[in-house]
Amino acid sequence: MKKRLIACMALAVLVALPGVSAASQALFLQKCGACHKKGGTAAPINPADKAGQVWEKYFERGRHPGDPGASGGDLKAIIDYLKAHAADSDQPAAAVIPK
Ligand code: HEC
Repeated sequence: MKKRLIACMALAVLVALPGVSAASQALFLQKCGACHKKGGTAAPINPADKAGQVWEKYFERGRHPGDPGASGGDLKAIIDYLKAHAADSDQPAAAVIPK
């Protein structure tokens, strides 16, 4: 029983991998989308707005005006997601702008 559960979880991880993304995209939409959406307090943003390198340094260098609403592992997951869909990636703008 336990083995089957582990096998299921391993499969779930494998299925989720191509989009390092599914969970990270959800975080991006939820955390960043809280402000960055149509009619929100900040303009919509898209991962393809910046190159991977720029996303890598953006929060590290404190470029974001004010609290981005995510920190630690959450912020790291979002940054990885942004990098994966950055302007210079294989799949730029594959993401949706938070609505
Ligand atoms: C509390 C509200 C809030 C949250 C949450 C938030 N932002 Fe922002 N963000 C702003 C404001 C305000 C600005 C400056 C005004 C603007 O660009 O509309 C800004 C600006 C930016 C810019 C600069 C815009 C540009 O054109 O370069 C980027 C990039 C950005 N945010 C990314 C993010 C990301 C990624 C997240 C999630 C980790 C996030 N923000 C979460 C409020 C927020």
